[in-house]
Amino acid sequence: MEQTVEKKVIFSGIQPSGELTLGNYLGALKNWVKLQDDYNCYYCIVDMHAITVKQEPKDLRRRTLEVLATYVAAGLDPDKNTIFIQSHVPAHAEAAWLLNCNTYIGELSRMTQYKDKSQRYGNSILAGLFNYPVLMAADILLYQADLVPVGNDQKQHLELTRDIAERFNNSYSPTFKIPEPYIPEEGAKIMDLQEPTKKMSKSSDNPNSFILIMDPPEVIRKKISRAVTDSLGIVKYTDEQPGVKNLITILSAITGKTHEEIEKEYEGQGYAQFKKDVAEAIVGELAPIQQEVKELTTNKEYLESIYKKGAEKANYAATKTLRKMQKKIGFIPLSK
Ligand code: TYM
Repeated sequence: MEQTVEKKVIFSGIQPSGELTLGNYLGALKNWVKLQDDYNCYYCIVDMHAITVKQEPKDLRRRTLEVLATYVAAGLDPDKNTIFIQSHVPAHAEAAWLLNCNTYIGELSRMTQYKDKSQRYGNSILAGLFNYPVLMAADILLYQADLVPVGNDQKQHLELTRDIAERFNNSYSPTFKIPEPYIPEEGAKIMDLQEPTKKMSKSSDNPNSFILIMDPPEVIRKKISRAVTDSLGIVKYTDEQPGVKNLITILSAITGKTHEEIEKEYEGQGYAQFKKDVAEAIVGELAPIQQEVKELTTNKEYLESIYKKGAEKANYAATKTLRKMQKKIGFIPLSK
């Protein structure tokens, strides 16, 4: 008799809080696509996370659908993966509350992303921004995820998720699987093109700092040609040359070539040809995705069919875990 082995579960998500960058693509999305055949994957558009900073409602609506279209255009098959919008699954908000009552303020105050972001927003920091890592923990734990494919910047949130899960399991009884981060070998931290010691981020004020997945080819070429390097003129993967190192990382994540192969290829050549090739690699990688995003965003009915099916599957899995949590905490079930 054939034995069916349960596939391991994967959960990840991207915020529709701005246009997606090459960092989101290489640090997350590109790797998700590789996992879809071997795992039971839940890929979420985390709109509830996006409202931790002020959003224009019509932009949020547009971007939520654009992120969904980008998931599919990047190669996520809606029949193989559960692709859904976070706010369509109420269990996320409910579980987040229950977990908030199992999380210490001290833990949340230590989150570096909160510290960075709260500096930027000064006196108008929303409570949601502070509690956001708990919502992220709820996202992951509700699906009993084994692995969470993310970029480096989310590692600390994942450690907190594990701590919260372990604490809940210890104070009640085993309820959650303890998830592991799954960080790509290449592309886990794509840096800012103008200040290559900072992470590339969609919230940077200088558009030359980042490449958007939807940037037209000529814009990509311009941004790469203006990317900050140094005066050494040597293509070398080293911390002393953060700009060049970042471009090697990008080229390597796209082409699969190793750092050494890239260094060798450009030995004695300076930066001009190297930068041109990096730009062309990005253009070549993104062009088909851009084309498909444009087509998909005009097909609202198709997108709706994807998120409706996704919500149904996600609701089923998430509600199961939520009921378990409620029962263990001591809430009275409405029906047995
Ligand atoms: P977000 O929306 O900021 O980013 C989405 C994904 O992109 C990765 N990423 C990067 N990777 C490499 N280099 C970069 N410069 C770069 N910038 C972003 C992020 O690491 C992430 O994997 N809290 C999360 C969203 C979230 C989530 C979750 C993720 C909510 N719930 C549950 C995993 C599981 C966030 O703000 O990601």
